Amino acid sequence: MTRQPETLRGATIAGTGMYVPERVLTNADLERMVDTTDAWIVERTGIKERHIAAPGQASSDLALIAARRALEMAGVDAGDVDQIIVATITADRPLPSCACDLQPKLGATKAAAYDLSAACSGFVFGLGVGRSLIGAGLADTVLLVGVEELSCIADYEDRNTCVLFGDGAGAAVLRPCEPGEGILSVSMHSDGGHGNILEVPAGGSLAPATAETVAQRGHFVKMQGRELFKLAVRGMEDSMRAALAQAGLSPADLELVIPHQANLRIIEAARERLELPPEKVIVNIDRYGNTSAASIPISLDELVRAGRLKPGDAVGMMAFGGGLTWGSVVARWTLARQGAGAATTAAAHGAAS
Ligand code: UT7
Repeated sequence: MTRQPETLRGATIAGTGMYVPERVLTNADLERMVDTTDAWIVERTGIKERHIAAPGQASSDLALIAARRALEMAGVDAGDVDQIIVATITADRPLPSCACDLQPKLGATKAAAYDLSAACSGFVFGLGVGRSLIGAGLADTVLLVGVEELSCIADYEDRNTCVLFGDGAGAAVLRPCEPGEGILSVSMHSDGGHGNILEVPAGGSLAPATAETVAQRGHFVKMQGRELFKLAVRGMEDSMRAALAQAGLSPADLELVIPHQANLRIIEAARERLELPPEKVIVNIDRYGNTSAASIPISLDELVRAGRLKPGDAVGMMAFGGGLTWGSVVARWTLARQGAGAATTAAAHGAAS
């Protein structure tokens, strides 16, 4: 673990936004598609429903709505964004990046735009990159989006995986702040030696798309769920403890913790290891499933708009995903309390305004 360098200025989350597509895929729907039951899915994962993008609705379309909402909350014009970082493994197309597809839709003409590939840890890794850019004076305004259309790579003939995934987007605007406020610490880790545990085997340079790779269903996610489960619990706990140590805090100092929503049992196990009370650990997997890089910023935006965060609160975020990648962030919240008069969660589900 490298020590966090002192920077001239801190970086903080100045606005958040989220969007999930309107179509809802319930466990009852899945019962008609694969050999599964609502009872199994709820008991083993905690998921009741997930949102699925409409045909022709690309990741950058989801990202656009979340990004506009985050910019509006931050009071920032799209034209003032210096960098757009999109954390995703389901860009609109292999080339160009999702961030480049998002940029003209948003009108962020001066922004450098690029994707970050760290699967479910993408938003946490993006907070690390954004904080570094702002801390080093290389950017004043960073738009970070976690967006995923996992329905495009979910195999709806594989009950082991297809019940887990959902589509959605969450965004955060990062701006400079006083050192010692905002993002206090970031802990980022990878173990490519275990990359095969969660993979899409075809469609890259190793196995380019052919009629054969399509016939073999090689463009869909393959997962060794049980292995991943154990590593996820340990990775989230260890990285959260590392981020807390860097920030000079302990788990009890955290007002709220936002875990990546992979499985309710993973969240529960990590919560118990960190000795956190249930009311401090955010769960919305029942409504969205696993939305990979979008899950933490979706949860964050729901908390912000519900008025559950106030300036001075210490907030933790912890993620684990394919790569393997895992990491945690500890932040001292600076954004004025939202809530009364702000858009409700239900309104945030609606179409773009
Ligand atoms: O986003 C980060 C990456 N993802 C994760 O971190 C996911 C981590 N893993 C998990 O969440 C869990 O391992 C799963 C939810 C994927 C699976 O739960 P599990 O308790 O580990 O189940 P299992 O894989 O050990 O399977 C138990 C049984 C098997 O049947 P047998 O072999 O015991 O007869 C499966 O075939 O459950 C069966 N099964 C299902 N049954 C009904 C697997 N999927 C289903 C299903 N419906 N959808």
